[in-house]
Amino acid sequence: MEGLKKLEYRGYDSFGVATLGSGIEVAKNQGRISEYAGAAIKLHGKIGIGHTRWATHGVPNDTNAHPHLDCANKIAIVHNGIIENFAELRRDLISRGHIFRSDTDTEVVVHIIEENMAKSGDLLSAVQDTLPLLKGSYALLVIVCGETRLIAARSGSPLVIGIGDGENFAASDMTPVLEHTERAMFLEDGDVAVLTPEKVEIFQNQQPVSRPVELIDWSLEDVKKGGFPHYMLKEIYEQPQAFFNTVRAITHDTLPKIIQHPKSVTIVACGSSYHTGLIFKYLLEESLGIPSRVEFASEFKYFPPPVQGLVIGITQSGETADTLTALKQAKIHNCRTLAITNVLGSSVCRIADTTLFMRAGPEISVAATKSFIAQLAVLMQIVNAGSQGKYDNILSHAHQAIEDVLLMDLAKPVALCKNAKSIFYIGRGPFYPVSLEGALKMKEISYIHAEGYAAGELKHGPFALLSPETPVIAICMPGETYGVMVSNIKELKARGAPVIAIGSANDRELTEIVDIFVPLPEMKPFVQILTSLVVLQLIAYYTAVALGRDVDKPRNLAKSVTVE
Ligand code: AGP
Repeated sequence: MEGLKKLEYRGYDSFGVATLGSGIEVAKNQGRISEYAGAAIKLHGKIGIGHTRWATHGVPNDTNAHPHLDCANKIAIVHNGIIENFAELRRDLISRGHIFRSDTDTEVVVHIIEENMAKSGDLLSAVQDTLPLLKGSYALLVIVCGETRLIAARSGSPLVIGIGDGENFAASDMTPVLEHTERAMFLEDGDVAVLTPEKVEIFQNQQPVSRPVELIDWSLEDVKKGGFPHYMLKEIYEQPQAFFNTVRAITHDTLPKIIQHPKSVTIVACGSSYHTGLIFKYLLEESLGIPSRVEFASEFKYFPPPVQGLVIGITQSGETADTLTALKQAKIHNCRTLAITNVLGSSVCRIADTTLFMRAGPEISVAATKSFIAQLAVLMQIVNAGSQGKYDNILSHAHQAIEDVLLMDLAKPVALCKNAKSIFYIGRGPFYPVSLEGALKMKEISYIHAEGYAAGELKHGPFALLSPETPVIAICMPGETYGVMVSNIKELKARGAPVIAIGSANDRELTEIVDIFVPLPEMKPFVQILTSLVVLQLIAYYTAVALGRDVDKPRNLAKSVTVE
């Protein structure tokens, strides 16, 4: 249960555990582990499996929660991923007399294992014979009555084996395992592992294989709240360190060849990672003149643009199904691929030709914050390397500027935002994606409708929505677009919208025309992007707290979205 709590950020609509006691003992429940009001779960045995769910097939309820059992209640499984051909398999199984209890795709797997067990009498071969019948993605754990083995299998969903002392573990990531061991093996697609307390054996195509044992340098402290009320606030405060560590790790020497002087770049990503891609595009084109395009990973597979050259997949988790699919598609188009991720051993590392790791440490809160800043550190270092180290000094001190904005008093913007019906965010150039990210953070954790816009676009329609209940947050920095931004702000004011502006601390003009002014201490290339982002994260965070939202686990979401 302690381990599952650490994985709850991956899905939290229901949970369940099964152990091998005298038979299979199961406890499962709708809702979150942290909110579980029932009596303490008391199961017996020393081998067990557990799961936290993010519903895909079947509503979140006790019955659809994992583990799922076979007809005879002798086999239990938990599953991450999706079995795409489950409907057909389910029909066949029902026609052969199997009784289904849930609406999940997962349940077909346990019934097929049941049939194969009856044929071979051996758990390992029963699982191995089942896997070729499954289309889709899975990380599976299986236990069966009368056995001391736990079987783990993966294809397309992450699975890590933790190597302990007289105990072994299998989990979606290392966070629940760190308490017990820092030694890990990352399973490859197609691997089936057999775990007992004493040993771990791995098979690929029924043949024994070995996987390297890696030392995970995330500390136990990293996965605790450390006195902060929410992981999100802790992670926001860890951003100076995340930026600093990443800038130092990505040097001119460690940059892979494929990213040095590319002719063109296509970025595929989702959500916040898509926004870092957009910021990168602006920086890359402006500083190095390298033509770049940014595509939603979810569109890329089905509507691939005419791509060539380098395709970069940006994904904090390294497990986002859309981004993995887009990178595979890029390889079909003979493109070279680079992944930027935070998670060692994640699926994206196996797909991309080369991987660059950011050094954010584990990010638990569903809202991306320090991973966003660390992604920017990687991308800014790429631009810096292409510019012969022109930004060395700025990048090696930028973490201090981030630190300076952490303690800013944002009570006024928060008071305005928390009563808003809708909030617009506007910016130009790289501050346009900054505004998209600010709006995403706000809607994701506060549930207030928020939209980011390129500042010039608001007058082409959204102006119709302006009112005293729709504040606009304008990111207005000195430079070429300053004058036109000020005009945009005046247009907003003339239509009754309250304006919060984020700008340079020396800006007298803005202070006079806007309702609330948030002064940023440092105006340097790159740094303004980072500090304005942190301000927007903090405004979203404090607004969500003021509204009593569940900041770390917002409704309907999950940290890694492993389905397309
Ligand atoms: C951001 O706060 C989100 N939770 C979400 O948009 C996230 O960035 C997206 O799902 C992509 O995740 P990834 O970076 O792990 O691929």
